[in-house]
Amino acid sequence: MSKRWFREKKREHFYKLAKKEHYRSRAAYKLKQIQGRFNVIHYDFLVVDLGASPGGWSQVAAGIAGRNGKVVAIDRARMKPVEDVLVLRGDMTKDETVAALFRALGGRKADVVLSDMSPDISGNYSIDHARSIELCGTALAFARRALRPGGNLVVKAFQGDLFGRFLAAVRQDFRNVHAFHPEASRPSSSEIYVVAKGYGMEGDGGKARGAGRRAQGKEQGAGRKAQGKEQGARGKGQGMDGGFRERAEEE
Ligand SMILES: C[S@@+](CC[C@H](N)C(=O)[O-])C[C@H]1O[C@@H](n2cnc3c(N)ncnc32)[C@H](O)[C@@H]1O
Repeated sequence: MSKRWFREKKREHFYKLAKKEHYRSRAAYKLKQIQGRFNVIHYDFLVVDLGASPGGWSQVAAGIAGRNGKVVAIDRARMKPVEDVLVLRGDMTKDETVAALFRALGGRKADVVLSDMSPDISGNYSIDHARSIELCGTALAFARRALRPGGNLVVKAFQGDLFGRFLAAVRQDFRNVHAFHPEASRPSSSEIYVVAKGYGMEGDGGKARGAGRRAQGKEQGAGRKAQGKEQGARGKGQGMDGGFRERAEEE
């Protein structure tokens, strides 16, 4: 059997499973696999889901956060209501959307920020990659303002030459950072998920303490080296995150 045949079978498998288990999208299984591996969402958590439509991730997150938790989902596209999820509509690159999202959070800090945001595909990979990394920067800037100290972030990126710089920027602010390719993603897909845990807690290079101060947090100093071994996707070094950091600090 060819690789292509196996790929198609796997895609079909998650598609059928999503139908059977009443998930809005196959993507739900990507978050399930991320959760199974990294345990990013806990019961009671306040979760923000960026680029949430049609809602598979929101369903999974709401199921884990439970009755005492809360999921706030946002997408620039229309999204049908999801049980136990506050659904907002807006473009995350717009200031007014971010302001509306903060109003919806009502002054509470988020425990987890998820971003499965994807750009419209142009067909030109360099452009799509650059746009994807821009959206990653948007999600990271939001997470820096919204997360409580110790909070977690999951962001989808299209791999390419700008990815290492983004990963390095994430490593500045989180204790453990991994790049993960879930089984539910197509094997040929260039998408990869950055899973970052422990916002504002000391990680690679120990610079995350600054992020802790930005988040007005007290949980600092738990220095464990980030272990981003999956996919061998390591940042290309410190000091290459200027673009991302400057944007966040301008806010
Ligand atoms: C792959 S889909 C998300 C699937 C979703 N996680 C699920 O489980 O059903 C990517 C979404 O990102 C949204 N998106 C892309 N750019 C965005 C932006 N600037 N602001 C808000 N949403 C955006 C798109 O509208 C699209 O619905």
